[in-house]
Amino acid sequence: MNPSRKPLIAGNWKMHRTVSESVALARAVADTSRIGPRTEVVVAPVFTALQAVAQALVGTRVTVAGQNVYFEEQGAFTGEISAPMLKDVGCAWSLVGHSERRQLFGETDASVQKKLFALRKHGLAPIACLGETLAEREGGVTYDVLRRQLDAMTASLDAQEATALLTGLVLAYEPVWAIGTGRTAKSSDAQSAHAFLRDRIRDRYGEVADTVRILYGGSVKPDNAAELLAQPDVDGVLVGGASLDAAGFARIIQAAG
Ligand code: PGA
Repeated sequence: MNPSRKPLIAGNWKMHRTVSESVALARAVADTSRIGPRTEVVVAPVFTALQAVAQALVGTRVTVAGQNVYFEEQGAFTGEISAPMLKDVGCAWSLVGHSERRQLFGETDASVQKKLFALRKHGLAPIACLGETLAEREGGVTYDVLRRQLDAMTASLDAQEATALLTGLVLAYEPVWAIGTGRTAKSSDAQSAHAFLRDRIRDRYGEVADTVRILYGGSVKPDNAAELLAQPDVDGVLVGGASLDAAGFARIIQAAG
């Protein structure tokens, strides 16, 4: 972590928990976590539980994210949810481009960019995920993939527009081979990927790079969080499985200071 950026700990609950279970988990997170004065904590429940969780967390330091969003505001888009709708139920954030969305539901670099624009337009903060698959890592193209995914977020924007989009943006580097597998990236590999992303932003757009927070995700657990968070370019973590256990998630939050 770098003291110029606030640590961010995010829990992605994926397709787990009913409404009442989600509210209970959210309350447990808010009640048991000792959240450092500068740390931000976000949880991303299933869509059906967003409103109830957001209400349960009013007055706490835990905020709420959607796990996905559609880029249109309304219309004939069966099964989709828009940014104003997320805002309406109390979300401050949304994930975009999670590898499960990219791999299982056809999310593309281009749709990720449209979703970023939609979230920003409606005052929601994106957590934009990117990362290489195992085949890409073994094929030696990790950094090509990261560059492509990152550059696509600012594709066709002029420098001023790109800088506006990147200011305060949260990225989540999630190597796909580390998600849900128990196989965490070595903290040095995470640091290298994060530094690569930040350097790429700095090379293209200058010092806005220092305002971008880059989370690491992929089998983050209470016992590996501190080492990951100790890396200078790791500004937080995006936690899947381990965020479903309030006590464990509280330990990860504490690792951020
Ligand atoms: P995991 O998931 O912590 O269960 O590996 C991380 C994620 O998909 O965001």
